[in-house]
Amino acid sequence: MKIDLASHVNGSRLWNSLMEMATIGPGIAGGNNRQTLSVADCEGRSLFRRWCEDAGMEVSVDQMGNMFACRPGEDPNADAVCMGSHLDTQPAGGRFDGVLGVLGGLEVVRTLNDLGVRTRRPIVVANWTNEEGSRFAPVMMASGVFAGIRSLEDAYESRDKEGKRFGTELELAGWKGAEQVGVRKFAAYIELHIEQGPILEAEGVDIGVVTAGQGLTWLKVTLSGRSAHAGSTPMSRRRDAGLGAARVVNLVNQVALDRQPNAVGTVGRLEISPNSTNSVAGSADLMIDIRSPDSAVLKAMEEQINQGIRSIAEELGLECEITRVQYAEPVAFNDECLRAIRQANAALGYKSRDVVSGAAHDAYWLSRVTPTAMIMCPCVDGVSHNEAEDISPEWATAGTNVLLHTVCTISGAVD
Ligand code: HGY
Ligand code: MN
Ligand code: MN
Repeated sequence: MKIDLASHVNGSRLWNSLMEMATIGPGIAGGNNRQTLSVADCEGRSLFRRWCEDAGMEVSVDQMGNMFACRPGEDPNADAVCMGSHLDTQPAGGRFDGVLGVLGGLEVVRTLNDLGVRTRRPIVVANWTNEEGSRFAPVMMASGVFAGIRSLEDAYESRDKEGKRFGTELELAGWKGAEQVGVRKFAAYIELHIEQGPILEAEGVDIGVVTAGQGLTWLKVTLSGRSAHAGSTPMSRRRDAGLGAARVVNLVNQVALDRQPNAVGTVGRLEISPNSTNSVAGSADLMIDIRSPDSAVLKAMEEQINQGIRSIAEELGLECEITRVQYAEPVAFNDECLRAIRQANAALGYKSRDVVSGAAHDAYWLSRVTPTAMIMCPCVDGVSHNEAEDISPEWATAGTNVLLHTVCTISGAVD
Protein backbone atom coordinates (compact mmCIF):
# COMPACT_ATOMS: atom_id res chain seq x y z
CA MET A 1 0.00 0.00 0.00
CA LYS A 2 1.32 3.47 -0.86
CA ILE A 3 1.75 5.71 2.07
CA ASP A 4 -1.05 8.22 2.56
CA LEU A 5 0.47 11.70 2.67
CA ALA A 6 -1.69 12.40 5.70
CA SER A 7 0.21 9.69 7.59
CA HIS A 8 2.28 10.85 10.51
CA VAL A 9 4.75 9.09 12.75
CA ASN A 10 3.85 8.31 16.35
CA GLY A 11 5.38 11.36 18.02
CA SER A 12 4.94 10.16 21.60
CA ARG A 13 6.53 6.79 20.82
CA LEU A 14 9.46 8.64 19.24
CA TRP A 15 9.76 10.96 22.25
CA ASN A 16 9.60 8.05 24.71
CA SER A 17 12.42 6.29 22.81
CA LEU A 18 14.52 9.47 22.85
CA MET A 19 13.96 9.85 26.60
CA GLU A 20 14.75 6.19 27.28
CA MET A 21 17.99 6.41 25.27
CA ALA A 22 18.84 9.58 27.22
CA THR A 23 18.84 7.59 30.48
CA ILE A 24 21.92 5.71 29.19
CA GLY A 25 25.21 7.45 29.96
CA PRO A 26 23.72 10.40 31.87
CA GLY A 27 25.86 13.53 32.14
CA ILE A 28 26.15 15.63 35.30
CA ALA A 29 23.74 18.36 34.14
CA GLY A 30 20.86 16.58 32.43
CA GLY A 31 22.59 15.71 29.15
CA ASN A 32 24.62 12.68 28.09
CA ASN A 33 28.17 11.39 28.26
CA ARG A 34 28.07 8.35 25.94
CA GLN A 35 31.51 8.55 24.39
CA THR A 36 32.50 6.13 21.67
CA LEU A 37 32.91 2.51 22.87
CA SER A 38 32.33 3.46 26.48
CA VAL A 39 30.17 1.11 28.55
CA ALA A 40 27.33 3.58 28.03
CA ASP A 41 27.81 3.68 24.26
CA CYS A 42 27.71 -0.13 24.16
CA GLU A 43 24.56 -0.14 26.29
CA GLY A 44 22.92 2.34 23.93
CA ARG A 45 23.93 0.21 20.93
CA SER A 46 22.40 -2.89 22.50
CA LEU A 47 19.15 -1.08 23.22
CA PHE A 48 19.01 0.22 19.63
CA ARG A 49 19.68 -3.30 18.30
CA ARG A 50 16.89 -4.75 20.45
CA TRP A 51 14.43 -2.07 19.30
CA CYS A 52 15.33 -2.72 15.66
CA GLU A 53 14.89 -6.48 16.03
CA ASP A 54 11.55 -5.88 17.78
CA ALA A 55 10.59 -3.87 14.68
CA GLY A 56 11.37 -6.86 12.48
CA MET A 57 14.69 -5.60 11.16
CA GLU A 58 17.87 -7.62 10.80
CA VAL A 59 20.90 -5.87 12.31
CA SER A 60 24.38 -6.23 10.79
CA VAL A 61 27.63 -4.75 12.12
CA ASP A 62 30.71 -3.97 10.02
CA GLN A 63 34.42 -3.95 10.85
CA MET A 64 34.17 -0.40 12.25
CA GLY A 65 31.19 -1.22 14.44
CA ASN A 66 28.79 0.65 12.14
CA MET A 67 25.30 -0.77 12.73
CA PHE A 68 22.84 -1.34 9.86
CA ALA A 69 19.26 -2.34 10.69
CA CYS A 70 17.52 -3.52 7.51
CA ARG A 71 13.78 -3.66 6.71
CA PRO A 72 13.35 -5.83 3.59
CA GLY A 73 11.86 -4.30 0.45
CA GLU A 74 9.77 -5.92 -2.27
CA ASP A 75 12.87 -5.98 -4.49
CA PRO A 76 15.68 -7.55 -2.45
CA ASN A 77 18.19 -6.73 -5.19
CA ALA A 78 17.46 -3.00 -5.12
CA ASP A 79 19.92 -0.79 -3.25
CA ALA A 80 18.47 0.28 0.08
CA VAL A 81 17.50 3.77 1.15
CA CYS A 82 19.47 4.56 4.30
CA MET A 83 18.55 6.88 7.17
CA GLY A 84 20.81 7.31 10.17
CA SER A 85 23.22 9.31 12.30
CA HIS A 86 25.08 8.53 15.54
CA LEU A 87 24.38 7.45 19.13
CA ASP A 88 27.75 8.45 20.56
CA THR A 89 27.87 11.82 22.31
CA GLN A 90 30.28 14.51 23.40
CA PRO A 91 31.66 14.23 26.97
CA ALA A 92 29.19 16.94 28.00
CA GLY A 93 26.75 16.29 25.20
CA GLY A 94 23.06 16.67 24.61
CA ARG A 95 20.28 14.09 24.38
CA PHE A 96 19.45 14.73 20.72
CA ASP A 97 22.66 15.38 18.70
CA GLY A 98 22.82 12.33 16.42
CA VAL A 99 20.28 10.39 18.47
CA LEU A 100 17.32 12.06 16.74
CA GLY A 101 18.56 10.85 13.35
CA VAL A 102 18.98 7.26 14.49
CA LEU A 103 15.75 6.96 16.50
CA GLY A 104 13.87 9.05 13.94
CA GLY A 105 14.85 6.42 11.38
CA LEU A 106 13.63 3.68 13.71
CA GLU A 107 10.33 5.54 14.17
CA VAL A 108 9.89 5.71 10.39
CA VAL A 109 10.19 1.92 10.22
CA ARG A 110 7.86 1.43 13.18
CA THR A 111 5.31 3.66 11.41
CA LEU A 112 5.63 1.78 8.11
CA ASN A 113 5.01 -1.43 10.07
CA ASP A 114 1.93 0.09 11.75
CA LEU A 115 0.55 1.22 8.38
CA GLY A 116 1.44 -2.02 6.61
CA VAL A 117 3.29 -0.02 3.97
CA ARG A 118 5.73 -1.99 1.83
CA THR A 119 8.51 -0.27 -0.07
CA ARG A 120 10.14 -1.43 -3.27
CA ARG A 121 13.62 -0.76 -1.92
CA PRO A 122 14.91 -2.17 1.37
CA ILE A 123 15.20 0.46 4.12
CA VAL A 124 18.23 0.68 6.42
CA VAL A 125 18.68 2.61 9.67
CA ALA A 126 22.36 3.22 10.45
CA ASN A 127 24.23 4.06 13.65
CA TRP A 128 27.70 5.30 12.61
CA THR A 129 30.51 4.63 15.08
CA ASN A 130 32.46 7.56 16.55
CA GLU A 131 30.85 10.48 14.79
CA GLU A 132 31.95 12.86 17.55
CA GLY A 133 35.64 12.13 17.41
CA SER A 134 36.13 13.49 20.93
CA ARG A 135 37.54 10.31 22.51
CA PHE A 136 39.18 9.02 19.33
CA ALA A 137 40.03 11.60 16.64
CA PRO A 138 39.02 12.28 13.93
CA VAL A 139 35.39 13.25 13.82
CA MET A 140 33.03 11.14 11.62
CA MET A 141 35.65 8.41 11.81
CA ALA A 142 33.66 5.29 10.86
CA SER A 143 31.52 6.84 8.16
CA GLY A 144 34.82 8.12 6.78
CA VAL A 145 36.18 4.56 6.54
CA PHE A 146 32.86 3.45 5.00
CA ALA A 147 33.23 6.14 2.30
CA GLY A 148 36.91 5.37 1.71
CA ILE A 149 38.12 8.70 3.12
CA ARG A 150 40.49 6.91 5.50
CA SER A 151 41.73 3.33 5.83
CA LEU A 152 40.50 0.79 8.35
CA GLU A 153 44.08 0.39 9.63
CA ASP A 154 44.47 4.13 10.12
CA ALA A 155 41.21 4.29 12.10
CA TYR A 156 42.16 1.26 14.21
CA GLU A 157 45.40 3.01 15.27
CA SER A 158 43.62 6.09 16.68
CA ARG A 159 44.32 6.43 20.41
CA ASP A 160 42.41 8.12 23.21
CA LYS A 161 43.95 10.25 25.97
CA GLU A 162 44.92 7.12 27.94
CA GLY A 163 46.65 5.67 24.88
CA LYS A 164 43.93 3.05 24.31
CA ARG A 165 43.80 1.92 20.66
CA PHE A 166 40.45 2.22 18.86
CA GLY A 167 40.76 -1.17 17.10
CA THR A 168 41.50 -2.94 20.38
CA GLU A 169 38.68 -1.18 22.23
CA LEU A 170 36.26 -2.09 19.43
CA GLU A 171 37.21 -5.76 19.75
CA LEU A 172 37.07 -5.74 23.57
CA ALA A 173 33.66 -4.06 23.44
CA GLY A 174 32.39 -6.86 21.22
CA TRP A 175 31.34 -4.46 18.45
CA LYS A 176 33.84 -5.36 15.75
CA GLY A 177 31.57 -6.87 13.11
CA ALA A 178 32.37 -9.21 10.26
CA GLU A 179 30.87 -7.14 7.44
CA GLN A 180 33.53 -5.52 5.29
CA VAL A 181 33.32 -1.72 5.63
CA GLY A 182 31.95 0.06 2.60
CA VAL A 183 30.66 -2.91 0.61
CA ARG A 184 27.08 -1.96 1.38
CA LYS A 185 25.60 0.23 -1.39
CA PHE A 186 22.74 2.68 -0.91
CA ALA A 187 20.36 4.33 -3.40
CA ALA A 188 20.29 7.38 -1.13
CA TYR A 189 21.17 8.51 2.39
CA ILE A 190 18.96 10.96 4.32
CA GLU A 191 20.10 12.20 7.74
CA LEU A 192 17.78 13.94 10.20
CA HIS A 193 19.69 16.09 12.70
CA ILE A 194 19.10 18.97 15.09
CA GLU A 195 20.41 22.25 13.69
CA GLN A 196 22.88 22.89 16.54
CA GLY A 197 22.58 26.58 15.65
CA PRO A 198 20.09 29.43 16.25
CA ILE A 199 18.61 30.15 12.80
CA LEU A 200 15.51 27.91 12.60
CA GLU A 201 14.21 28.70 16.07
CA ALA A 202 14.88 32.44 15.66
CA GLU A 203 12.89 32.51 12.40
CA GLY A 204 10.07 30.32 13.72
CA VAL A 205 10.84 27.67 11.09
CA ASP A 206 10.16 23.95 11.77
CA ILE A 207 12.26 22.32 9.03
CA GLY A 208 15.71 23.07 7.67
CA VAL A 209 16.36 21.74 4.15
CA VAL A 210 20.13 21.31 4.33
CA THR A 211 21.57 22.15 0.92
CA ALA A 212 25.23 22.20 1.96
CA GLY A 213 27.67 21.92 4.86
CA GLN A 214 30.69 24.04 5.73
CA GLY A 215 34.20 22.62 5.57
CA LEU A 216 36.36 21.96 8.63
CA THR A 217 40.00 21.47 9.55
CA TRP A 218 41.42 20.13 12.83
CA LEU A 219 45.04 20.88 13.73
CA LYS A 220 46.93 19.12 16.53
CA VAL A 221 49.61 21.41 18.01
CA THR A 222 52.36 20.55 20.51
CA LEU A 223 54.42 23.38 22.02
CA SER A 224 57.57 22.36 23.89
CA GLY A 225 59.43 24.72 26.25
CA ARG A 226 60.99 23.92 29.60
CA SER A 227 59.23 23.45 32.90
CA ALA A 228 60.83 25.57 35.60
CA HIS A 229 60.29 26.91 39.09
CA ALA A 230 57.53 29.56 39.06
CA GLY A 231 59.31 31.55 41.76
CA SER A 232 63.02 31.42 41.23
CA THR A 233 63.19 31.48 37.40
CA PRO A 234 63.64 35.03 36.02
CA MET A 235 61.03 35.98 33.38
CA SER A 236 63.81 36.44 30.80
CA ARG A 237 64.94 32.82 31.24
CA ARG A 238 61.53 31.16 30.80
CA ARG A 239 60.35 29.04 27.87
CA ASP A 240 56.73 29.08 28.92
CA ALA A 241 54.53 26.68 26.86
CA GLY A 242 51.46 27.88 28.75
CA LEU A 243 52.04 31.41 27.54
CA GLY A 244 52.52 30.08 24.02
CA ALA A 245 49.22 28.18 24.25
CA ALA A 246 47.38 31.29 25.39
CA ARG A 247 48.72 33.23 22.40
CA VAL A 248 47.69 30.43 20.01
CA VAL A 249 44.15 30.47 21.45
CA ASN A 250 43.97 34.18 20.76
CA LEU A 251 45.50 33.78 17.28
CA VAL A 252 42.84 31.23 16.23
CA ASN A 253 40.07 33.47 17.52
CA GLN A 254 41.44 36.47 15.62
CA VAL A 255 41.95 34.55 12.35
CA ALA A 256 38.25 33.64 12.44
CA LEU A 257 37.09 37.12 13.46
CA ASP A 258 39.04 38.58 10.53
CA ARG A 259 36.86 36.49 8.13
CA GLN A 260 33.32 37.22 9.27
CA PRO A 261 30.44 36.61 8.80
CA ASN A 262 31.04 32.89 8.14
CA ALA A 263 34.41 31.71 9.43
CA VAL A 264 34.64 30.17 12.90
CA GLY A 265 37.54 28.90 14.98
CA THR A 266 38.35 27.71 18.47
CA VAL A 267 40.81 25.73 20.58
CA GLY A 268 38.44 23.24 22.18
CA ARG A 269 41.08 21.10 23.82
CA LEU A 270 44.17 22.33 25.71
CA GLU A 271 46.39 20.36 28.07
CA ILE A 272 49.50 21.88 29.64
CA SER A 273 52.14 19.95 31.53
CA PRO A 274 53.09 19.51 34.29
CA ASN A 275 49.91 21.50 35.05
CA SER A 276 51.15 22.54 38.48
CA THR A 277 50.57 25.97 40.01
CA ASN A 278 54.22 26.60 40.86
CA SER A 279 55.81 25.16 37.72
CA VAL A 280 56.17 27.07 34.44
CA ALA A 281 54.49 24.84 31.82
CA GLY A 282 57.05 22.84 29.87
CA SER A 283 54.64 21.62 27.20
CA ALA A 284 51.19 22.29 25.80
CA ASP A 285 48.96 20.15 23.58
CA LEU A 286 46.17 21.91 21.71
CA MET A 287 43.46 20.85 19.23
CA ILE A 288 42.29 23.60 16.85
CA ASP A 289 38.91 23.47 15.06
CA ILE A 290 38.42 25.95 12.17
CA ARG A 291 35.52 26.03 9.69
CA SER A 292 34.25 27.94 6.69
CA PRO A 293 31.74 27.33 3.87
CA ASP A 294 34.51 28.44 1.47
CA SER A 295 37.43 26.04 0.98
CA ALA A 296 39.80 28.84 -0.14
CA VAL A 297 39.06 30.74 3.07
CA LEU A 298 39.56 27.58 5.13
CA LYS A 299 42.97 26.98 3.51
CA ALA A 300 43.99 30.62 4.08
CA MET A 301 43.00 30.36 7.75
CA GLU A 302 45.08 27.20 8.15
CA GLU A 303 48.07 28.86 6.49
CA GLN A 304 47.82 31.96 8.68
CA ILE A 305 47.53 29.84 11.83
CA ASN A 306 50.55 27.74 10.84
CA GLN A 307 52.65 30.86 10.31
CA GLY A 308 51.34 32.51 13.46
CA ILE A 309 52.17 29.51 15.65
CA ARG A 310 55.70 29.36 14.26
CA SER A 311 56.37 33.01 15.09
CA ILE A 312 54.87 32.64 18.60
CA ALA A 313 57.16 29.65 19.16
CA GLU A 314 60.20 31.51 17.89
CA GLU A 315 59.48 34.53 20.07
CA LEU A 316 59.08 32.41 23.22
CA GLY A 317 61.89 29.94 22.52
CA LEU A 318 59.50 27.01 22.06
CA GLU A 319 59.56 24.04 19.70
CA CYS A 320 56.30 23.55 17.83
CA GLU A 321 54.76 20.61 15.98
CA ILE A 322 51.59 21.16 13.90
CA THR A 323 49.67 18.22 12.37
CA ARG A 324 46.49 18.39 10.33
CA VAL A 325 44.37 15.54 11.74
CA GLN A 326 41.14 16.20 9.90
CA TYR A 327 40.03 17.98 6.75
CA ALA A 328 36.55 17.94 5.24
CA GLU A 329 35.77 19.97 2.13
CA PRO A 330 32.56 22.02 2.17
CA VAL A 331 29.85 19.69 0.88
CA ALA A 332 26.91 20.31 -1.51
CA PHE A 333 24.05 17.82 -1.06
CA ASN A 334 22.20 15.98 -3.82
CA ASP A 335 19.47 17.78 -5.81
CA GLU A 336 17.26 14.69 -6.23
CA CYS A 337 17.30 14.05 -2.49
CA LEU A 338 16.62 17.72 -1.79
CA ARG A 339 13.70 17.61 -4.21
CA ALA A 340 12.23 14.63 -2.33
CA ILE A 341 12.64 16.46 0.99
CA ARG A 342 11.00 19.62 -0.37
CA GLN A 343 8.14 17.59 -1.87
CA ALA A 344 7.60 15.74 1.41
CA ASN A 345 7.64 18.95 3.38
CA ALA A 346 5.27 20.71 0.97
CA ALA A 347 2.75 17.87 1.40
CA LEU A 348 3.07 18.10 5.18
CA GLY A 349 2.88 21.89 5.20
CA TYR A 350 5.66 22.75 7.66
CA LYS A 351 7.37 26.14 7.50
CA SER A 352 10.84 25.46 6.08
CA ARG A 353 13.95 27.20 4.76
CA ASP A 354 17.22 26.17 3.18
CA VAL A 355 20.18 26.04 5.55
CA VAL A 356 23.93 25.40 5.32
CA SER A 357 25.05 23.12 8.13
CA GLY A 358 27.54 24.70 10.55
CA ALA A 359 28.27 21.33 12.15
CA ALA A 360 29.75 18.40 10.27
CA HIS A 361 27.88 15.09 9.99
CA ASP A 362 28.28 11.54 8.73
CA ALA A 363 26.28 12.75 5.73
CA TYR A 364 29.40 14.62 4.63
CA TRP A 365 31.18 11.37 3.94
CA LEU A 366 28.09 9.47 2.74
CA SER A 367 27.68 12.15 0.07
CA ARG A 368 30.96 10.92 -1.45
CA VAL A 369 29.49 7.45 -2.18
CA THR A 370 25.71 7.93 -2.52
CA PRO A 371 23.12 10.67 -3.22
CA THR A 372 22.73 12.36 0.18
CA ALA A 373 20.89 15.21 1.87
CA MET A 374 19.85 16.27 5.38
CA ILE A 375 16.78 17.46 7.20
CA MET A 376 17.14 19.64 10.29
CA CYS A 377 14.87 20.61 13.14
CA PRO A 378 15.42 23.63 15.42
CA CYS A 379 17.03 23.38 18.84
CA VAL A 380 16.44 25.65 21.81
CA ASP A 381 18.67 28.74 21.69
CA GLY A 382 20.81 26.95 19.07
CA VAL A 383 22.67 25.28 21.94
CA SER A 384 24.46 21.94 21.32
CA HIS A 385 27.59 20.12 22.51
CA ASN A 386 26.25 21.25 25.86
CA GLU A 387 24.15 19.23 28.31
CA ALA A 388 21.44 21.89 28.12
CA GLU A 389 20.78 20.97 24.45
CA ASP A 390 17.01 20.75 24.00
CA ILE A 391 14.31 20.35 21.34
CA SER A 392 10.51 20.18 21.50
CA PRO A 393 8.57 16.95 20.86
CA GLU A 394 6.78 18.83 18.08
CA TRP A 395 10.06 19.66 16.32
CA ALA A 396 11.21 16.03 16.65
CA THR A 397 7.89 14.80 15.20
CA ALA A 398 7.88 17.29 12.33
CA GLY A 399 11.42 16.37 11.28
CA THR A 400 10.62 12.67 11.45
CA ASN A 401 7.42 13.12 9.44
CA VAL A 402 9.44 14.77 6.67
CA LEU A 403 11.97 11.93 6.93
CA LEU A 404 9.13 9.38 6.62
CA HIS A 405 7.68 10.85 3.45
CA THR A 406 11.07 11.58 1.93
CA VAL A 407 12.19 7.99 2.38
CA CYS A 408 8.89 6.65 1.06
CA THR A 409 9.24 8.79 -2.05
CA ILE A 410 12.77 7.56 -2.72
CA SER A 411 12.15 3.92 -1.77
CA GLY A 412 8.91 3.64 -3.78
CA ALA A 413 6.25 2.62 -1.29
CA VAL A 414 4.55 -0.08 -3.35
CA ASP A 415 0.80 -0.59 -3.68
O1 HGY B 1 32.14 18.47 14.98
C1 HGY B 1 31.03 18.41 14.45
O2 HGY B 1 30.65 19.26 13.66
C2 HGY B 1 30.08 17.30 14.80
O3 HGY B 1 29.16 17.78 15.75
N1 HGY B 1 30.74 16.13 15.33
MN1 MN C 1 25.91 15.06 15.39
MN1 MN D 1 28.04 16.51 17.67
